[in-house]
This record gives sequence, structure tokens and C-alpha cells, in this order.
Amino acid sequence: MRPILDDRLRAPEKRNPTMVPLKRRRVVSSCDSSTSDVSNTNNNRIKFQQQVLFLLERKMGSSRRAFLTRLGRSKGFRIEERFSESVTHVISENNSGDEVWAWLNSAQEEGGHHGQPPAPPAVRLLDISWYTESMHEGRPVEIQDRHTLQEPQQNAEELPLFSVPSYACQRSTTLHSHNLLLSDALSVLAQSAELAEDEGRGVAFRRAAAVLNFLPKAISAAEHLRGLPSLGEHSLRVVQEILEDGSSREVESTKQSDQYRAMKALTGIFGVGVKTAHRWFKLGIHTLAQLEDSGQALNHTQQAGVQHYSDLNQPVTKAEADAIGHLVETAVVAVSPGAQVTLIGGFRRGKVTGHDVDFLLTHPEEGKEDGLIFKVVAWLEAQGLLLYQKITKNSYLESKEGPSRSASTMDRFERCFSIFRLDQEERSEEGRSLDDGKETQKAWRAVRVDLVVSPKSQYAFALLGWTGSKLFERDLRRWAGHERSMSLSSHALFDIKQGKHLRADSEEEIFAHLGLDYIPPSGRNA
Ligand code: UTP
Ligand code: MN
Repeated sequence: MRPILDDRLRAPEKRNPTMVPLKRRRVVSSCDSSTSDVSNTNNNRIKFQQQVLFLLERKMGSSRRAFLTRLGRSKGFRIEERFSESVTHVISENNSGDEVWAWLNSAQEEGGHHGQPPAPPAVRLLDISWYTESMHEGRPVEIQDRHTLQEPQQNAEELPLFSVPSYACQRSTTLHSHNLLLSDALSVLAQSAELAEDEGRGVAFRRAAAVLNFLPKAISAAEHLRGLPSLGEHSLRVVQEILEDGSSREVESTKQSDQYRAMKALTGIFGVGVKTAHRWFKLGIHTLAQLEDSGQALNHTQQAGVQHYSDLNQPVTKAEADAIGHLVETAVVAVSPGAQVTLIGGFRRGKVTGHDVDFLLTHPEEGKEDGLIFKVVAWLEAQGLLLYQKITKNSYLESKEGPSRSASTMDRFERCFSIFRLDQEERSEEGRSLDDGKETQKAWRAVRVDLVVSPKSQYAFALLGWTGSKLFERDLRRWAGHERSMSLSSHALFDIKQGKHLRADSEEEIFAHLGLDYIPPSGRNA
């Protein structure tokens, strides 16, 4: 056995009684030569020049530190007695990254150095396990994640001390995201999961994307997201890959995959859901053209979807939404003076484009909204403004117990899925100017429009429920159920403990019932 191995068995200071206690020797400046360590160069040849190690005495103890230092040097490692700018690896035992970093800061000051501590990646903070494994191998082993302590932050001001409430309805998420590249990538994975009918996975990626969109600044490292709600390992991995390589292989290959592309194309047809699209996909139908050639039977809605495919897949602008709002208001005033029209959905949240336009209709006199949808649709049809319409009755059974509702009136809830024929003349100035010079464009375009009718007593619930976003709505209901023992729908709020419905005339009142701070529509873009 070589002598150094004997050392492991002994208390090092007994073998070297002249050793100065480390506390007194801790000098951080490398230009101070009074305590310069000579043993490294004198007794052992340095084999590994690139790694300049410093063993932190804190928690390790002076004797163990001395022992480990000698052991390392005997194996050709370069180990500094004092911390200096040349140190590349700080090795510590039973310390967190923060503790080591705090020590390095204080050591700097003790040494009369008031400048910044070395900036990462100049120095790696490593756990003792890296050192002992390197001793075992007789060479510096590759640094694994498990060896690494949390990297020090360059600047305390830049520390992303994000505080993110778990429920989207507890946060104000505006349209201005600082992390759109990352959230868009996660949205691709969410959509892919949804198209594969994996709802749980879809929601998980949607939640992760929503947290990224909420953060007050662009993130530069996936580690900054650790501990935040809804960011699971998978999402973190995708984020890390994009931050490091510019893109995620999984996201890129998803976007290129036959199934994703085909399912997107087929569900992009109005009236085609995931199940139908999947059935067609399995029959080898991947595109609209293949569907048209296939002779598959299409229902009335799908026929309209195929006919207006290109228009309906072109985003609706705010100007077009306003023009349609004008048409709907004209129709409503004509058939039921006093009835009200409110823009809902994404446009109410401030979006500048949408896949459709959503409106909520009501009448200040409870009951007068009854049958309104039929009259409005008939009026619009008479004007030649509808390319397609389908009225459905809302099956809201709970309304039996609802505020001022009786079983006999519950089917007053009405909804119309429609496709408007929007003439060029009906567009606002803004919309028209976009088309300047496009002589060949047809004089109208098809636009998907949803009309929903609500009695006045449920108007606030309908307004809240139809403004979205979908994730915001989902979390409102989850919050109500899990945190408040209440059941929220677009019709009512039921307090399960009290066994009664809670009335509300405004969205603010509903938030208050739920014990939530009010979030305006512009903050519901989760
Ligand atoms: P949309 O699907 O129209 O979404 O539903 P959006 O937010 O307006 O976005 P784009 O721009 O059109 O794509 C609007 C809201 O209506 C609710 C949803 O929860 C969503 O928040 N909604 C929609 C329902 O409650 N039931 C439905 O059947 C459809
Ligand atoms: Mn919409």
C-alpha cells in the first residue's frame, strides 16, 4: 500500500502538527503568498491541470478536508488551499448551492474583495460525490446532474423569484406573453394529445404552457422553473431543450408526423370531431381532398364545413368580428327591442383574431329572451346573411333548482351554431384596407358565429362561462369544486355545503362568491 492510503485511517492533523487551522488560513486572494500551498507542486505531479479544485471546509471539517486534499493531490489533482478566481470546481459536503454561494460571497468580503463573486459558469459547485468518484477512478469523472449543486445566480436582481398560484383563475394572464416560443411548443404537444383523445395529457401541457405565459419575464434556463406548479418533468425537458438547442425534437417531429397533420386537417373541418377524424385517418383519409374523393357520407354540418373550408380556416379579425356584431345587433333590435347583445369568447378577452365570433344575447325582462334565437336567426336568414345555421336547445337539467327557474322553463336556453356570409361592404375600414389591391378576392367570406341566449337571471354566469379561455373556465370550476365545495356552470353557482344556489348579477359577484380576486376578461387569457 502506498503511504497516502495509510493516511485515510489516521487523523491528518496528528500527522502534520504544523498545519494552521483552516479558519485562520482562509484567505481568498490568490495574490497573498503567505499561506501559499506548496505541497501540491512539491510532492505530487499535477496530472489534471484543467480542473482547479477547492474543497470547502464548511460542514466538511478541517481534518477531513486536509485528508481529502492530500488524497486528491496524490492522485494528480490540482487542489487549491484557498479560494481564488482560478478555482473552477468548488467541492462541498452537505451544503446546498445557496449555502456554498453565500460562503463564497462572505469569503470575498473577508478577503477584502468587495467585487462580484465569480460568475457562472466560471465555477462549478459540486457535491463531494463527484470528488470521491473521481478519487475512485483516479481521474476527474464526467459531471452528472446528481453531482451538481444549484448553480449560483449571476445577479440577485435577476433571480426569478416567481410566485405562481396553482389555479389559472387565481392569476391574471394577459395576451402579452414573455415566453411564447416555449408555450407554443407545449401547445403543440397539448394539441397532439387532444387529437389522440388523451385529455389528461392535453390538459397537463395546456397548464404548463399557461404558467409560462403568466411569468413576468422571459426565462433563460429550465432550472428557473423548478418548483412552479403544473411544470412536470416532461414539460421541463422540452423547455430545456428549446433553450439549449433552439428547438425540441419531440415538438418538431410531432409537427411533422402524418397523424398530427392529418388529424389537424380533418378536425379543421367544421362539424368534424376527433372521433370522426380518427376513423377517417384509419381509412387512409389524411386530407380534405382525400375526404372529398373518398365518397364518405357527410352530414349537413360537415358539408358546410367542407364547402367553406378555406374561409373558416382563415382567422377572423377584430374588424370582421365588429362587423358581424353590428349585423347581430341590428337583427336583435329588429325582432326584440330592448334585447342585448354582448361580444364574448376570445374577442372579449382582447384577442385580435379568433376562429369564430361568439355573442351572448339576453333580455332585461326575464322570460322575454324566450324564443329570441329563432326570431334572430329567421331575420338573418331573410337578409341572406346565413350560409348555415343549427339551433340547439340547452339541456341544463340542474336549472330545476336554479334561481328563479322552474322545470317548465328550463329549455329556454338556446344556442345557434352558424356560418355568416360577411360581405366586403359590411367590413369596417380596417378590414377593407387589408384587402386593397386584391381585385380577384370574392366579395364575401364565410365566418363561424356562435350565438348563445341566456335569461337575465343567469346572464352573469353565462358571460363568465363563455368568455373563456377554456383553461381559465376549467380552473374556475376546479377551484369551485375543490377549494369551495361549490359547483359552477354557465348557468349557476351551487353551494354544496349550504345546499343552495348563489345568485349573482355580475361576474364580480361570482368571483366574490368563490373567494377569488376579480380578474377582468383581458386577464383570462390562460
Ligand atoms: P371558443 O371555442 O370560441 O374559444 O369558446 P375562444 O376563446 O373564443 O377562442 P377562438 O379564438 O374562438 O378560438 C369560447 C368560450 O366558450 C366556452 C368555452 O369555455 C370558451 O371559454 N364554450 C365553448 C362553452 O362553454 N361551451 C361550448 O360548447 C363551447
Ligand atoms: Mn370564439
